Amino acid sequence: MTVPYHEVKTVIDLTQEPVEYREAIAKIVASHAVNELYGAQVFDEPAIAFAPTPYAKWLTCRIAMEEYHHHVRFKALADDLGIPEERTDPKVKRPLTIFGFPLTNWPEFCVIKMLADLAEILQVEDLLHCSFVPLRNIARITMPEEKFHAQFGKDFSSELCKTEAGKHQVQQAIDAYVPYLPLFFGASGSKNNETYRKYGLKERKNEEMRVDFLNRAKSVVESLGLRFPDLPTT
Ligand SMILES: [Fe+2]
Ligand SMILES: [Fe+2]
Repeated sequence: MTVPYHEVKTVIDLTQEPVEYREAIAKIVASHAVNELYGAQVFDEPAIAFAPTPYAKWLTCRIAMEEYHHHVRFKALADDLGIPEERTDPKVKRPLTIFGFPLTNWPEFCVIKMLADLAEILQVEDLLHCSFVPLRNIARITMPEEKFHAQFGKDFSSELCKTEAGKHQVQQAIDAYVPYLPLFFGASGSKNNETYRKYGLKERKNEEMRVDFLNRAKSVVESLGLRFPDLPTT
């Protein structure tokens, strides 16, 4: 549950808040700005070349466009907040480990959208009711697009699974990519997360989100008749 905290309606109102609250907002906004950009650069834009049909290419272009737009939205808020350039630059601020996966083919991209964007949905869900209204508003506009990306991943993975060879490729991609996902939710017992919950910026602990995600990801994978890999318990 979110700890009740008053609404902070504007960037101007934010200046009246404690330093700890402002820094928490800066961390969340900068992290989204960096990771939306880096994901678009290493996954979505290169995937346009892998898309097998004009229809798939069109939808992949749309996804790449939306992911860049997510960056643009978070970056605009970062600029309003006066966050220094280097905190939103993936060349300076290291992106999350889920983007360290070397994308080489179309089935991998479909699996990444199906599972990594599901993980992103959980993160954005937590921001939908957060105390800082400008961040809440970005979460509300972004959410339907992240849902579309995850559904795209599921639909195209399911399409690939119609042949034995395709099913094998999707399973291989799942086995290779799933180990990258649990860390996306951050460390268990995280101090940052504790601060976010204190100020009503996040609802759940990292470890609670991780468990929820792994259950949801497992059921999506199994709905395709595929196996969810065993992971070391975190
Ligand atoms: Fe996104
Ligand atoms: Fe997305």
